[in-house]
Amino acid sequence: MPCTAAEHDSPLTHAGHGAAVAQPLHFKPATPSDDKLRSLVRPDRIHRSLYRDPAIFELEMERLWNRTWLYVGHESQIPQPGDFVTLVLAGKPVVLVRHRDGAVHVLFNRCGHRGAVVCNEDSGNTKLFRCLYHGWAFATDGALQGVPLRAGYKDCLDLKDPDLGMVQLPRVESYQGFVFASFSPEGVPLSEFLGPIRRHIDDLVALSPDGELLVTGGVHRYEFRGNWKHQLENLNDLYHPFFSHASTVREDGRQFKRRSGDEEGPQIGSGGKAGGANPSKAFDEIPLHAFAQGHSYCGSMPFSDKRSGADFERYRALLTERHGEQRTREILQPDWHNAIIYPNVVIQSAAQHIRVINPISVDRTEILVFPVLLKGAPDKINRDVVRYLNVSHSAASLIQTDDLEAFERIQTGLAADGFEWLVYARGIAQDTVQPDGSTTGHLATELPMRNQYRAWLDHLAPTSAAATAPATTTPTAIQP
Ligand code: FES
Ligand SMILES: [Fe+2]
Repeated sequence: MPCTAAEHDSPLTHAGHGAAVAQPLHFKPATPSDDKLRSLVRPDRIHRSLYRDPAIFELEMERLWNRTWLYVGHESQIPQPGDFVTLVLAGKPVVLVRHRDGAVHVLFNRCGHRGAVVCNEDSGNTKLFRCLYHGWAFATDGALQGVPLRAGYKDCLDLKDPDLGMVQLPRVESYQGFVFASFSPEGVPLSEFLGPIRRHIDDLVALSPDGELLVTGGVHRYEFRGNWKHQLENLNDLYHPFFSHASTVREDGRQFKRRSGDEEGPQIGSGGKAGGANPSKAFDEIPLHAFAQGHSYCGSMPFSDKRSGADFERYRALLTERHGEQRTREILQPDWHNAIIYPNVVIQSAAQHIRVINPISVDRTEILVFPVLLKGAPDKINRDVVRYLNVSHSAASLIQTDDLEAFERIQTGLAADGFEWLVYARGIAQDTVQPDGSTTGHLATELPMRNQYRAWLDHLAPTSAAATAPATTTPTAIQP
């Protein structure tokens, strides 16, 4: 289909006394109907407009991102009362903040007076947020606290109106310190939204000798010129590593060692003349699991389990003390690699990190990668997590950059008119529905992508009236 049909307002408007005033042209992309949206997602193919049409991007924000649960941040980023971090969530400025009573709130970073962004820092600690324009001040739960020259509002404005504060997002919940929020007061509780994908958060927590994660190791932040869905698809795409990342692999098919203590690097290719670009059969055998809500995870990569060194042995001993031998072995060799919590966060076991997807426009996306440190682990083990990410997932890393190049090439290639479909058929005949309702597959299947677009359709062109029900509940906060 053509990207969008465009309508525009008249370029001339008459203002008072018949005077014609030139107005800018306002092009409005046509909103696709629900039937049209359904026609764009086939079981084994996706229409290119899902990556290129600004009207579809707007609908994604309105019907998916504004209604589902979104990951906001981790409680360890705001340990003390008054601690805050700011971010953009589904295009809107918000603040994650701990109030003086210890409760965690997610507030619109917007002044109740004339709408200015109130807090301009990335993070910090404060007793009050004060707006730079006219000095209105807000408590860390968002309540309007101070109004300069207050008498001027006497008899004309109720300053107790909660809408004049920094308004709280209607729903905020936390799981193991992972804070999620929703712009919609309606919808399933967080526990139901996460479902079985919760297990991967538990597994990350289990890596900590004290049972606590610290998302305090900084952040890698970068943008690519492409649609946000390229990144989500890629993280359970087992078909690409031998080719996209061939430059990181030696002739025997092994990649570089990623961590100190690792005795060998991951076996990415199968070796031979083509080296890294010679596909390894092992990737075809990695299982993939897809769940309702669009979540999925892939089994563990063929990384070496041979890790040694004094710091690692000290770390292993701490875990063994807490969990015993058998469980410690399982904890250190998790049976998964990337777990996607659709649509905005992915956690990884090997290079312990939280990756957040922040769509900017239909063809521009920001990514934030936070190393996950382990409370109670030797310093060297935590420093290794940061070093690992510097090498593998930073904007200047050896691996992530390959993927970003692929995303930009797709975005550019999709401009070619007359070729309408992207193919996601791989392994579809082997998709197996399990008794618990999840779907499994292997053969480096494109099941996770098919699953993401099923969830996408459930949000964008829902068949039940309940999915579009209006909002009615009051805001929630996470109590200490
Ligand atoms: S816009 Fe914030 S005080 Fe006026
Ligand atoms: Fe990759």
